[in-house]
Amino acid sequence: MSPMLTRVEVALGARAYSVLNGSGCLPSLGSLLREHGLQHSNAFVLTNPQVGALYGASLEAALRQSGFQRVVFHEIPASEEGKNWEQFSQTCASLLHHFPDAGASPLVLLLGGGVVGDLGGFAAAVYRRGVPFVQVPTTLLAAVDSSVGGKVAVNFGGVKNIMGAFSQPRLVVCDLDTLRTLSPRELRSGAAEVIKYGAVCCGSLFADLEAGALERLLALDSETLVDVVTRCVRLKAAVVERDELDKLGIRNVLNFGHTIGHALELSAHYALTHGEAISVGMVAATHLAERLGVCEHGFLQRLEALLQRAGLPLRYSGHPELFEPMLRALQLDKKFRNGKNLFVLPVRPGEWQQMEDVPWPLVHEAMHAALS
Ligand SMILES: NC(=O)c1ccc[n+]([C@@H]2O[C@H](COP(=O)([O-])OP(=O)(O)OC[C@H]3O[C@@H](n4cnc5c(N)ncnc54)[C@H](O)[C@@H]3O)[C@@H](O)[C@H]2O)c1
Ligand SMILES: [Zn+2]
Repeated sequence: MSPMLTRVEVALGARAYSVLNGSGCLPSLGSLLREHGLQHSNAFVLTNPQVGALYGASLEAALRQSGFQRVVFHEIPASEEGKNWEQFSQTCASLLHHFPDAGASPLVLLLGGGVVGDLGGFAAAVYRRGVPFVQVPTTLLAAVDSSVGGKVAVNFGGVKNIMGAFSQPRLVVCDLDTLRTLSPRELRSGAAEVIKYGAVCCGSLFADLEAGALERLLALDSETLVDVVTRCVRLKAAVVERDELDKLGIRNVLNFGHTIGHALELSAHYALTHGEAISVGMVAATHLAERLGVCEHGFLQRLEALLQRAGLPLRYSGHPELFEPMLRALQLDKKFRNGKNLFVLPVRPGEWQQMEDVPWPLVHEAMHAALS
């Protein structure tokens, strides 16, 4: 194995897997698959036109070099609009069309960001009641968050991620060099999830970001990139290991900023990226935490300063018309239960608590602030 790879184990017993990160590892993907016991001769690669054009050939060459015979590509549209039932259904149709024989079932490879990873992971989870899949994340967001943990889903009926499953990948391999072609906006979007980890999972990450790691990350400094991505993956793995199926409340921590963030993302019809919406959502949740007196004094300012340095929005100003649609979206949220939303509230960097009975007037206030 290349000495440049870092490895994080996600210790889930029979479903355990490794997350490998390193520069320039895409050409070695085939041998990495073999080393991890994936001896298939066929591959089904899900990607989108943008990522496929950049990295499809390199991935295919890597697979062929290690003896893959058939490599079938299927593309879904770039962006969140592609994460829908129709694209999911077309992906399943393509799987069935190309691999009708159960004896020649392919290894599914998900080359792209969170949209490809979530939709393709869901297709792999249900096709023939589950075929092995490997996440090959190419966005910062997917590298630090969505490729790890086994939550796979598509949006449906105007609700984010409402149709989905828990299905762990067999391996995650991220070639950090692929992040170099991301647009600055997509890079910043991924930084929002990095800041999320610092804010509620790890005080020392938060402090390091404040001390300059954020700028080095955004400048794609190699050492910082591998350090930050690996730390985030470790944090995610630790949460997932303790609450794989999101039943114990532990995994809710990863939802910081996502209650209002998801409602905004949907109501604004994806005019904001996921990370941008989550940035606004984190500020709104922290505003709530301050009003409820659960948050350390000064935390909101520190968080806002960090998000601003990352070029992320603190609010979605000038959109008061989104208040009502957001309110409806909040009530359709996956985590909306018995008339209440679940809020993850920061306490101090690296600490959080959840609250189910945040008074609606306070939620309204935070939403008005987010849209004004
Ligand atoms: N499953 C989970 O646990 C989890 C966690 C967080 C987020 N998510 C989901 O992830 C999705 C967001 O993921 P995302 O931010 O990766 O978005 P994305 O998949 O839409 O990718 C963003 C854009 O970047 C482009 N792109 C991808 N890789 C590139 C590269 N290397 N070079 C140039 N362009 C590239 C894509 O074509 C796309 O236009 C959301 O749907 C969100 O709900 C899931
Ligand atoms: Zn997210």
